[in-house]
Amino acid sequence: MVLDARNHDPAQEIAAEKVLLDRLDTYYSDIISWFFQTILKDSTPTKILDVGCGTGHLLEVCDRTLKAIVTPSFYGVDLNQYLITNASQRFPSYQFEAADATHLPYPDETFDLVYVAAVLAHVPRAADILKEMVRVTKIGGTIAVLDQDFETAVLYPGDKQLTRSVLNAAADYWSDGWMGRKLPSMFKHLGLTDITVDARVRIDRDFDKPFFERIRNWIVEAGFPSDRAERWFSELCQQASVDEFLFTRNWYAVAGIKQFKSLNE
Ligand SMILES: C[S@@+](CC[C@H](N)C(=O)[O-])C[C@H]1O[C@@H](n2cnc3c(N)ncnc32)[C@H](O)[C@@H]1O
Repeated sequence: MVLDARNHDPAQEIAAEKVLLDRLDTYYSDIISWFFQTILKDSTPTKILDVGCGTGHLLEVCDRTLKAIVTPSFYGVDLNQYLITNASQRFPSYQFEAADATHLPYPDETFDLVYVAAVLAHVPRAADILKEMVRVTKIGGTIAVLDQDFETAVLYPGDKQLTRSVLNAAADYWSDGWMGRKLPSMFKHLGLTDITVDARVRIDRDFDKPFFERIRNWIVEAGFPSDRAERWFSELCQQASVDEFLFTRNWYAVAGIKQFKSLNE
């Protein structure tokens, strides 16, 4: 979900924020707890930046996970002013700013930990965002990404061929449906060291009809034949109430250390 910062539509912003808040009550809490336990295992950062922070809740989970001796300071940046205004009200002790992550409004080498969660697969300039994250990280600091790889999606029930083509079309609808598997290479090319990779499977056993309705709409918008999309969706709705429904996807937590002064050195 990426909101358009220039042509902002209040109804769309409220709906998008609701999607982000609702998933905190389902699978996402488990994923983000795992993410912070994984990336904070060997470090106790004291200055932390969340890139594409959305509602701001991840900073709070990071805060809870850290058992820091020195009180950490938390920063969040997001393109969307509406989300930033609400996050500032929700978490007044953290510092939020509306900005584009391809031009982060912080000097070089400011933070001990800079992370981005569930953003890079949705945006056109993921590599530029990662470069900026490296720039604002201190030498010896950590850069971390949490993201999924949509092409790892497993779905049942449904016709095998049709389900395959729908899931592939849905993966291609994302800016990068392969983001998860590409992260370790992206980290390597940025010159990061001590790269760690961990993965978690998201398991949905309840059929979330509105989510699959959105998938149907995405793929039709991207040119998938609407009659086939409709057939897939109606068969899924029907069979999900008869068979045992299962939908899984891989999420990746990738972290690396910045050991150099600037990207050009
Ligand atoms: C799917 S949401 C994830 C929000 C949050 N990280 C989370 O995990 O709940 C993606 C977020 O990235 C933000 N975003 C997208 N492109 C951005 C950019 N270029 N700079 C900063 N934020 C961006 C969107 O506004 C949105 O809040």
